[in-house]
Amino acid sequence: MSYYEIQGGRPLEGRLTVQGAKNSVLPILAAALLAPGRSVIHNCPDLSDVSAALDILRLLGCRVEREGEAVAVDAAGLKCARIPEGLMRQMRSSVIFLGALLARLGEAELSYPGGCELGPRPIDLHLSALRTLGAEITEEQGNLRCRGGAWLRGGEICLSIPSVGATENAMLAACGCPGVTTIVGAAREPEIVDLQNFLRAIGARVTGAGGSRVFVAGGRPLHPARYRVMGDRIAAATYLCAAAATGGQVEVAGVEPGALTALLTCLEQAGCQLTAAGDAVRLTCRGPLRSISPVRTAPYPGFPTDAQAILMAALAGGEGATLFVENIFDSRYGHVDELRRMGADICVAGRAAMVTGVGRLHGAGVRSPDLRGGAALVVAALGAEGTSRVSQLHHIRRGYERFPECLRALGASIWERQ
Ligand code: EPZ
Repeated sequence: MSYYEIQGGRPLEGRLTVQGAKNSVLPILAAALLAPGRSVIHNCPDLSDVSAALDILRLLGCRVEREGEAVAVDAAGLKCARIPEGLMRQMRSSVIFLGALLARLGEAELSYPGGCELGPRPIDLHLSALRTLGAEITEEQGNLRCRGGAWLRGGEICLSIPSVGATENAMLAACGCPGVTTIVGAAREPEIVDLQNFLRAIGARVTGAGGSRVFVAGGRPLHPARYRVMGDRIAAATYLCAAAATGGQVEVAGVEPGALTALLTCLEQAGCQLTAAGDAVRLTCRGPLRSISPVRTAPYPGFPTDAQAILMAALAGGEGATLFVENIFDSRYGHVDELRRMGADICVAGRAAMVTGVGRLHGAGVRSPDLRGGAALVVAALGAEGTSRVSQLHHIRRGYERFPECLRALGASIWERQ
């Protein structure tokens, strides 16, 4: 089993351009199904979750070719509407293909995506949104059979939770429904805006993304397009927190600073100097990180749940106490026990976690519990005294492209070992 061997205590210095956004490219690859013909998606990161999505597109009948940083998807040959259980289990966010298949083929069949390390991952909001548009959905023995077709019509979808995936599925399905669809209570994440921009590029009429009401005038013929995916704000947050944890100076380019406001505010409170210009953020940290106001995860523009573990890892090696409250997922503290093995002082009670900085963590052998928890352990190991081993790398490979290489380019001592 391979692992990262990390020598901690080296301040990160330098500049990097961040990868394309995993949570944007996955719905955009599903959206490529809507347009018969060859779309080219630029800034497509080389991640295992992206590979899984490309495997699904091929299985559905698309021609898929990677051309360096771009991926070409020719959806003219789309003929299959069924995603097998094996591929669904490989990546739970494959549920995002539901809306696109319904819009293009009028039907879809897939197995329930099931839970993951973060706890149960229900899709009730996805299904109720599609039913509002007229889809007939039957659930039997863990399989979902969805039928749409000529009777699909635009309608008003009300989301009780601003679910990112449900908003995306609703937008994609609505593109195949004649009439206007309004999504009330939509998620406002920047990745939703990126999806809207791609849909507009293929000829769809979508407005309002980034706000809580999204409008789709569906049923129009769509055409392929060339599109560049936004930078990954969570990957950017990871490199910035690594710089903060090691007392270095790093500039991260290729990301919209406004998409990171909540995290940057926390890092500034913790004592980092931050400057933002154009599509780059520079962080300088010359002393131990200080305690900050309580960090409560929330839907965008609140503090992103995906950055919770990463910021916690940086603060655990600082000074002072900070309260975290995880409001989005039921069990997103899998990294806490592993951080404790590195000397962290963290007390968890339900959704709350009190982190008391110990001045410096020490190296240890730790296991990635999930994607962002694994990245958090790398951040902690980079700032710790001594050598760490981080295993279960398959979690990290889902969301970070060339992670050790990017960190080494900033001066880190991190090597993958067998
Ligand atoms: C997306 O997941 C992201 N994944 C997640 O990133 C991210 O943490 C999450 O949004 C929140 O920002 C992708 O975009 C591929 P949700 P998603 O639907 O869409 C509940 C990462 O690390 N809910 O916004 O699955 C749900 O249980 C990943 O990159 C329902 O109850 O998240 C959760 O408590 C992890 N019913 C809350 O809503 C539903 O039908 C938010 O989930 C759907 C969701």
